[in-house]
Amino acid sequence: MNWRQKAKQAIEWGIEQLQPEIQEDFGKIAGYSDVKDIFKRALATDESINLLLVGPPASAKTMFLQGVMDIMGDDAVYFDATNTTNRVLDVLEQKRPKIICIDELEKMPTNFQNKLLNFLESGHVKVDQKKVQYDFTIKGVKCFGAANNPKKISPPLMSRFGKPLYLPKYTKEQFLSVSEKVLEIEVGRFIGEQVYAKGGDIREVINIGKLVGKKGTEEDVLQVLRTMYKYQEVDTE
Ligand SMILES: Nc1ncnc2c1ncn2[C@@H]1O[C@H](COP(=O)(O)OP(=O)(O)O)[C@@H](O)[C@H]1O
Ligand SMILES: [Mg+2]
Repeated sequence: MNWRQKAKQAIEWGIEQLQPEIQEDFGKIAGYSDVKDIFKRALATDESINLLLVGPPASAKTMFLQGVMDIMGDDAVYFDATNTTNRVLDVLEQKRPKIICIDELEKMPTNFQNKLLNFLESGHVKVDQKKVQYDFTIKGVKCFGAANNPKKISPPLMSRFGKPLYLPKYTKEQFLSVSEKVLEIEVGRFIGEQVYAKGGDIREVINIGKLVGKKGTEEDVLQVLRTMYKYQEVDTE
């Protein structure tokens, strides 16, 4: 199946009814059925489109990009923008992927953000510098991006994504059901409650889940938390 067929299936059948391995992809993400719907639509359209997810840490942004990668396989490439170099352009030139996922977009160096502007509009990359030359086009390319802090993204780059989707902090109920889903242990919800009360995020929930183990009790959870918070960061100035 080529990328377009796979994407068309995604929208015609609904992710839930796709073959199990595709169903798995966005299925790992708890909640967000409306955002999943937007992603399915974006994958299924013939048009080029760019989508940006903005949200606090541990709000499933990378999971969405991973879901795109899982569905689109070889037709997609994933970059962490933290260390972007011309290697990205090499990969684009050689692989001509139909889908590119860029995580941590705000960490992309500004000069590189500029190189992407044209590409995100027309699929055209033209770089003409002393040491590096690129001139190629990928028709119908789609870009899925994720960022924590949109203020660090240059306004022109931001505008290439149309209207970003801002994922809000989880409500208490959402936080608890995500905790249950990711931990799959008896005290999952309890850990969620404790961490939520302290203002922590889902990554903290996952760590504590590992420390108390599959057979952990509520008493174990409280013990681990007491130690964690006894040795929490203090202002040393
Ligand atoms: N809605 C969710 N459903 C399932 N797991 C989640 C959800 N939100 C966060 N998580 C958990 O939190 C971890 C961090 O999510 P990730 O997508 O990497 O966050 P970020 O938004 O920082 O990129 C994931 O590995 C996953 O286990
Ligand atoms: Mg991430």
